Amino acid sequence: MGEKKEIRIGLIGRGLMGKMHANAYSRIGNFFPDLEYRPVLQTVCSRNEEKVKEFAETWGFNSYETDWKKVVERDDIDAIDICTPNNMHAEIAIAAAEAGKIILCEKPLSSDFEEAKKMVEVVDKSGVPNTVWYNYRRVPAVTLAKQIVDSGKLGKIFHYRANFLQDWTISPELPQGGDALWRLDVDAAGSGVTGDLLAHCIDTAIWINGGIKDVSAVTETFVKERVHQDSGEVQKVGIDDASIFHCHFSNGSLGLFEATRYARGHKALYTFEINGEHASIRWDLHDMHRLEYFDHSDESVVRGWRSIHVSDGDQPYMDRWWIPGTNIGYEHSFIHQAADFFKSLEEGEEAAGPTFKDALETEKVCNAVLKSAKSRSWEDVK
Ligand SMILES: NC(=O)c1ccc[n+]([C@@H]2O[C@H](COP(=O)([O-])OP(=O)(O)OC[C@H]3O[C@@H](n4cnc5c(N)ncnc54)[C@H](O)[C@@H]3O)[C@@H](O)[C@H]2O)c1
Repeated sequence: MGEKKEIRIGLIGRGLMGKMHANAYSRIGNFFPDLEYRPVLQTVCSRNEEKVKEFAETWGFNSYETDWKKVVERDDIDAIDICTPNNMHAEIAIAAAEAGKIILCEKPLSSDFEEAKKMVEVVDKSGVPNTVWYNYRRVPAVTLAKQIVDSGKLGKIFHYRANFLQDWTISPELPQGGDALWRLDVDAAGSGVTGDLLAHCIDTAIWINGGIKDVSAVTETFVKERVHQDSGEVQKVGIDDASIFHCHFSNGSLGLFEATRYARGHKALYTFEINGEHASIRWDLHDMHRLEYFDHSDESVVRGWRSIHVSDGDQPYMDRWWIPGTNIGYEHSFIHQAADFFKSLEEGEEAAGPTFKDALETEKVCNAVLKSAKSRSWEDVK
């Protein structure tokens, strides 16, 4: 093995995703030793010095910062990884692109559609490799679903159906805004479940089933007022608590999507089902290592849904892990995404997707969904 080329990471944000990405960078060298590039945990940034110092020590970062602008300015940083609330993505990504840094940005691209378009323009102009962490594409069973659809086994696709159901915001006593609750604050998040949950379903759908042409949506805000965690004031709730839409895909199939944080009993039930002329597939995040497959060409007496345990070495990514029959988890999808991204840098191809440009397609759909819910009419995706 030759000398590895270092990609010195500046991680901004040390919450759930900060931890997830730090974990991915730490493990990549062990499980993808053939990669030419090696991520180095160079610096991590968040505003609270005590906490960021502790995070840096726990995860083995070489340094820490409390001002993200300093991270972008540093000469010893090659890549900026954005793990902050949505309303900060655009400013950081634009500054990073202008400084010539590689960018890995959490989803959704931005809290604001106009800013998302600007982000794409700026990264295009600067030519920096970029990716957005729509990690579900790299869950082996989801990657396998894409391979099955691409192989033509399903034939013509008629239906694409996806849900993302949670139940953690039902209590009206839950405050909005501030640490850990910025998702409920429209100024920080941009939207509610549309940008937070549906965005994942839309990215996977576009990747597997192609573009969405138009949408008809309904959204609801069940709890109208909440106390803001920081100010203590009662404020109007500006996010969508639930978002449902149906749509036409460019390939002629129909889509049906639902996301909510008011489905009592569901923690993070991301599911999708695709019905084609010859076969159907379905997947469920709560049972993420399985892909359900129904093939109408099976002999009728044994025809039925089969449950494929995606753990064999010839199934996506699984040759990197343990032995057939044993599972990997949620965190591995981030390791896979990082590995694919670094591999694409090595090969000098367009960066492994979704790039900012790809992620803008999801933003366009989210934007059309929110517009349609407001106008109570069909909206074209544009
Ligand atoms: N890909 C996925 O499956 C997935 C899952 C969860 C979250 N996300 C996305 O990741 C992003 C972060 O979400 P999270 O759940 O990690 O949030 P979080 O609240 O757990 O963490 C946010 C972090 O940003 C830091 N931060 C806030 N303002 C800052 C500033 N001015 N300077 C530096 N740091 C600052 C906070 O201190 C915190 O460490 C969001 O865009 C979210 O949509 C993606």
